[in-house]
Amino acid sequence: MKPREGLTLALLQLFAVSEAGKILVYSPSISTSHLISNGRIADALVDAGHDVVMFIPEYMPLTSFLGTKKAKVITMRNINPIFGEMMDGWPELTLKSDRLSVMERLDFEYTATSICGDLMKRRDELKPLADYGFDVGFSEQIDLCGVGVIRYLGIKNHLWISTTSIMDAVSYNLGIPAPPSYVPTIEENDNGDVMDFWQRSFNLYMYVAAIVVHRIGTDGTTAVFRQFDPVFPNVREIAANSSLCFVNSDEIFDLPRPIIHKTIYIGGLGVDKEPKPLDEKFSKLMEKGRKGVIIISLGSIIPFAIKEFEDYHFIIKIDKGDNKTGPMFAGVPNYDLVEWLPQVDILGHPRLKLFVMHGGLNGLVEAALRGVPLVVVPVFADQFRNGRAVEKRGIGKVIHKLDMGYDTFKSTVKEIVENPKYSENAKRLGAMMRDKPFSPKDRLVKWTEFAIENGVLEELHVEGSRMNTIVYLNLDKLFVHELGLPGHYGTVNGQFSNNSPTHQNDSNVDG
Ligand SMILES: *[C@@H]1O[C@H](CO)[C@@H](O)[C@H](O)[C@H]1NC(C)=O
Ligand SMILES: *[C@@H]1O[C@H](CO)[C@@H](O)[C@H](O)[C@H]1NC(C)=O
Ligand SMILES: *[C@@H]1O[C@H](CO)[C@@H](O)[C@H](O)[C@H]1NC(C)=O
Repeated sequence: MKPREGLTLALLQLFAVSEAGKILVYSPSISTSHLISNGRIADALVDAGHDVVMFIPEYMPLTSFLGTKKAKVITMRNINPIFGEMMDGWPELTLKSDRLSVMERLDFEYTATSICGDLMKRRDELKPLADYGFDVGFSEQIDLCGVGVIRYLGIKNHLWISTTSIMDAVSYNLGIPAPPSYVPTIEENDNGDVMDFWQRSFNLYMYVAAIVVHRIGTDGTTAVFRQFDPVFPNVREIAANSSLCFVNSDEIFDLPRPIIHKTIYIGGLGVDKEPKPLDEKFSKLMEKGRKGVIIISLGSIIPFAIKEFEDYHFIIKIDKGDNKTGPMFAGVPNYDLVEWLPQVDILGHPRLKLFVMHGGLNGLVEAALRGVPLVVVPVFADQFRNGRAVEKRGIGKVIHKLDMGYDTFKSTVKEIVENPKYSENAKRLGAMMRDKPFSPKDRLVKWTEFAIENGVLEELHVEGSRMNTIVYLNLDKLFVHELGLPGHYGTVNGQFSNNSPTHQNDSNVDG
């Protein structure tokens, strides 16, 4: 490097540092996938020259994996084991029934609220974060403890993350229209965007259930903060004022729906456009199988069916220390078990014919970006809906978890590897996702910098989020007309919650 170039570089770095924003990413260890997607946000912002701290309250027991490779990490450990204990029971719970019940979802809310309470009992430990002088704070949608913590830390500019497709708790709070006639709810709902009468009825029920469950959860979270600050706003109202909402999904892949200007899709963030070359072990595995390779990343597997696809080699991802799966494959010649996969790169291998997985959004978007056909066996949360998006895009098929067996597995896999339309569709979709205008990284970084520069983006706020349901749906107007009352009338002021500080003058709704 010539001396002058060195100087220019040094100056640029100096400039970058002086312009750097201070960014907090609040990311409880809800699960590995949440740490992955929040970590990708943190890392992309570090790459852009910002000072990023990822704060990880320990929900699930923390391993060495913290999601981020580049940001500073602050953890709060040993808060309360109840969250981990609840999640330990979930594999059994989710495999025995169609979907989690409303009561089980409420359990999740109560558990999260209780951890939030224990976290805030140790709020003295948050002092370094309060003193850091963050410009913006990110937190996600699963429980709104993070929204409260960010307010408690005195950070005014909140940026919201939806780790799933826009979750109903998010659309409800931000005022994003979500017509239940064609926008399926996110959690525990096996509907696509084309629904018959009964499916629409079910979706409407699930919509109301989602709102009720999350209102109960957020009221609990609010109560945590009111224990020491009686005038603490409802966390829903703080969330409603978020400047932006980054959605961990891709609009080319996801089911189409209305959004607002605050909604920024960043799915695929942190996945390189081109896969990196595989190491020797995996390059060799990918040469096996006369017609190609199939990767399976599932809890339950059907060894006999695998044996019958003799032209294909199966790479099966198992949990670390799993010594039960191996013996089940006695006499099956065409498989390898691995405890780890270079997933984003192996999905780009030309000999890969199919990816069989549970439908977690990160893995799905990675596969879709790489143009790989899919079989999805959803287990819980948003996985059902993600599976229906896969079917809508014609890039794969869903097997219902309770129908999973020799016949369904065999016929579904056969259909996908033998009918070229799935891989053609997958290639077209992947190319569009890679080539669409503005990369996920650009959108994340530029919008975050915009929010750092301009403060709270009140200009993007949708009034609908500050109305009560009666005004929002114009039910008062219908009512008045039915009764033939005069045109000007008083509307019910205030918001969803009875402690609302904002009062709109609604008399112009009539104009
Ligand atoms: C939300 O923003 C509005 C408009 O700036 C403000 O009046 C209100 O107090 C804010 N609510 C909360 C809870 O911060
Ligand atoms: C399988 O793993 C479990 C738990 O790690 C262990 O207790 C058990 O002895 C192992 N069984 C065999 C056959 O290695
Ligand atoms: C509401 O608007 C009406 C009509 O513009 C006005 O007469 C009234 O004073 C306003 N009320 C408040 C509380 O601002």
